[in-house]
Amino acid sequence: MGHEWLRGRRIVVGVTGGIAAYKVCELVSTLTRLGATVRVVMTENARRFVGELTFATLSGTPVAHEMWAPRDEIVHTSLADFAEAVIVAPATANIIGKLAHGIADDLLSTTLLAFDCPIVMAPAMNTRMLCNAAVAANIETLRQRGVRILEPEEGRLACGDEGAGRLPATEAMLDALAEALGVADAPLAGMRVLVTAGPTREAIDPVRFISNPSSGRMGYELAGEAARRGASVTLVSGPVSLDPPAGVHVVNVESAGQMHQAVEAHRGELDVFIGAAAVADWRPAESHDQKIKKGDRDELELRLVRTPDIIASVAQWDPRPVLVGFAAETTDLLENAERKLREKGLDMIVANDVCRSDIGFGSDANEVTLIRASGNRTPLPRASKSEIARSILDEVQDLLGSRTD
Ligand code: C5P
Repeated sequence: MGHEWLRGRRIVVGVTGGIAAYKVCELVSTLTRLGATVRVVMTENARRFVGELTFATLSGTPVAHEMWAPRDEIVHTSLADFAEAVIVAPATANIIGKLAHGIADDLLSTTLLAFDCPIVMAPAMNTRMLCNAAVAANIETLRQRGVRILEPEEGRLACGDEGAGRLPATEAMLDALAEALGVADAPLAGMRVLVTAGPTREAIDPVRFISNPSSGRMGYELAGEAARRGASVTLVSGPVSLDPPAGVHVVNVESAGQMHQAVEAHRGELDVFIGAAAVADWRPAESHDQKIKKGDRDELELRLVRTPDIIASVAQWDPRPVLVGFAAETTDLLENAERKLREKGLDMIVANDVCRSDIGFGSDANEVTLIRASGNRTPLPRASKSEIARSILDEVQDLLGSRTD
């Protein structure tokens, strides 16, 4: 599978003292190239094999190796706070033994005890060491505690012996990280998904605009969940105060016009389009370059013109992605939503009653009805926006499936 899921992921790579350390340069370089933020921790013995400058250059960040460096931060806990996953490669018999027995006598072993994120280890050593009863027992102990231990590959070893003990290929290490981060079972792998989210701002002058109270949360949840399911996700976002979801490519825009342009840049490239943005329907016909002075005016007339209907224009694309829209309504929810579904040419619409203050705009929870073009209606009970996002994507997967059948 592709590795789009790595974008924005925070990975710690622990390098210990084995000859295979040189192969981990490729792992760090690949992780960085694919958009992950990587911090490398080296043991003293690892630094005998590869210079720390190599890893610092490949990861774009200084290598951590000392416990007691005079710094503002406490290195081992700040690394533990940073990491979403850690991979130790190559993992020597020494580090495996230390982690199995809770020994913390250098930065890497100490940090490993502080992590509460998934740990992957890629052992590489001489076959006889690998088969040693103590090493085998330590590996088994760690496996039982949930550490993912890769099977070393068989072949010619650096010492000249033949057998199991070689560091697995970079691709196998990436797959293990995907599994550790829960993206290995990726029903949307290979799918290109674009989500619009948040409000738009339509400028009146440089300091005033027309907008709405959309928080963007629903769209951000959808984008994050699609990425977790393995899709390659672009999130075109109006101005919001949310952190970008992991594994998602974010394009920030302000106005409906800019959002339209950002979406058009993906014409012909999408499998799924989800319009969760609360796009302004009108914009001022003219936007003033300078701030409009109050002067002694009592009134200001604004002439508004329609903005492009982004989702309706995507419905005209050929080939056309699976299209999911939202209907934020205050009256006759289902009827209005169904009419919108037909008029805009969507495959599914998420009908959302925005009259209620306990759901919808700005709230953590939502209660919606999913309406398919077939007329099928699925009411979802009140739930968090992340749960609603999962239900919507389950339906999207179903729609994608029925397309290819
Ligand atoms: O017509 P209305 O704004 O109610 O439609 C809502 C749906 O259409 C949402 O999915 C929204 O993201 C999308 N939309 C759009 N471009 C607009 C207006 C709405 O993509 N200009």
